[in-house]
Amino acid sequence: MNSTSPQPAARPALPELFLRDLRAAFPESAVLTRHEDLIPYGFDGTAALRQLPGAVVFPRDAAGVAAVLRLARTHRVPVVSRGSGTGLSGGSIPVPGCVVLCLGDMNRILELDTKNLTLLAEPGVITQRIYDTADAAGLFYPPDPGSMKISTIGGNVSENAGGLRGLKYGVTRNYVMGLEVVLADGSTVWLGNKCVKDVAGYNLRDLFIGSEGTLGVITKVLLRLLPKPAARQTLLATYASMDAAAETVSAIIAAKIIPCTLEFLDQRTLRCVEAFAKVGLPTEAEALLLIETDGHPAAVADEAERIEQICRAQSALAVRRAASADEATRLATARRSAFSALARLRPTTILEDATVPRSELAKMIRFINETAARHQVEVATFGHFGDGNLHPTFLTDERNQAEMHRVEAAMKEIFDYALSLGGTLTGEHGVGLAKKAFLPRQLGDPTLELLRAIKRTLDPEGLLNPGKIFD
Ligand code: LAC
Ligand code: ZN
Repeated sequence: MNSTSPQPAARPALPELFLRDLRAAFPESAVLTRHEDLIPYGFDGTAALRQLPGAVVFPRDAAGVAAVLRLARTHRVPVVSRGSGTGLSGGSIPVPGCVVLCLGDMNRILELDTKNLTLLAEPGVITQRIYDTADAAGLFYPPDPGSMKISTIGGNVSENAGGLRGLKYGVTRNYVMGLEVVLADGSTVWLGNKCVKDVAGYNLRDLFIGSEGTLGVITKVLLRLLPKPAARQTLLATYASMDAAAETVSAIIAAKIIPCTLEFLDQRTLRCVEAFAKVGLPTEAEALLLIETDGHPAAVADEAERIEQICRAQSALAVRRAASADEATRLATARRSAFSALARLRPTTILEDATVPRSELAKMIRFINETAARHQVEVATFGHFGDGNLHPTFLTDERNQAEMHRVEAAMKEIFDYALSLGGTLTGEHGVGLAKKAFLPRQLGDPTLELLRAIKRTLDPEGLLNPGKIFD
């Protein structure tokens, strides 16, 4: 939260010679420089952060990306790459005087390999399209970030996005087999392959996953797919207390059941989602769990039965099963709308993703509520309970500076507390700008210095998304 003016900050001019060379290298329609055209690129999904870029360029292939990086190097212009801009930590917010490299036009699915169960895509492909393409072939791409209808696969890889199926299936990283990356000097490398096993050399592919555009620009992604689970069952359980819901999570895991999804909504989020999505959620409950199990039909039936018993034993007010695949989809879609639904309440929505070991969930939620009350700020919490990944969401107004300071103070305490419980600042949204002030505390100096050494090696001029993750 550096800037609090409602308009994106003014843009420092780019070197004229850089713009001349950029215009010579790309068609007219692929370079934006007019103030009004730049405005949409001054934001991402993160509240209260904005900065106009100097220009936006839309390359169509890796050669175009390399051309931008070479020009940027020659003229010493910072480069911020982006997809749809749905990020929630400011990773793709422009830095002053930068060119935004928008990968949205590189949006082809290049190959679906049904023998090796892989899919090769350009970075600008929308995540939902990856899922749908796999699904149509009887295959399954599990990572499903809340914004998957809008987000791009390149953005997902760059932020190592999570989603609602993280508990059983992991996050984006677990499905990336290969990456084509253009490096700061304009050279192109291919990291990884279609082999299930490969231990040749350092695992550089993983270094780029979650590197938030600070080490190179991803121009192709090779994804691992799974066979589509034959059956699914969705359950809803409601509770009169948060603790009972948290206890249910521990009890399900202790019973050696790993559901695909184990989501949580507090009462405020629940009411808000119901008002928005109108799917018949029981709004009187203090807490709601949305649980999905998937796999072989016999295993799903058995797990659903045992989950239902556990919920009842943990004093659920009610447990209900989705009657059809359609209803299950409606419930999951309603849950996915939580952020948008909450965003309707107040002008500014600051959503965090503090994450703790599952055993500490109840403590963490109590602390979030107490802290918000103490600082007199409004908070609603939902998230991926099964992963210990919470989204405390502050409902505020960035024009009210006093209130914003109270939000910041509450947030800092929440991060500190999460770390003291053995947690992390971010389970799935990345560090970007929003959390970089807190990162040194989590990593410690020797680790932070290792990050800096890697950055210096791969980006010696410091032009790739500078000032993100760390200074
Ligand atoms: C979600 C996003 C906000 O879980 O991470 O909906
Ligand atoms: Zn989330």
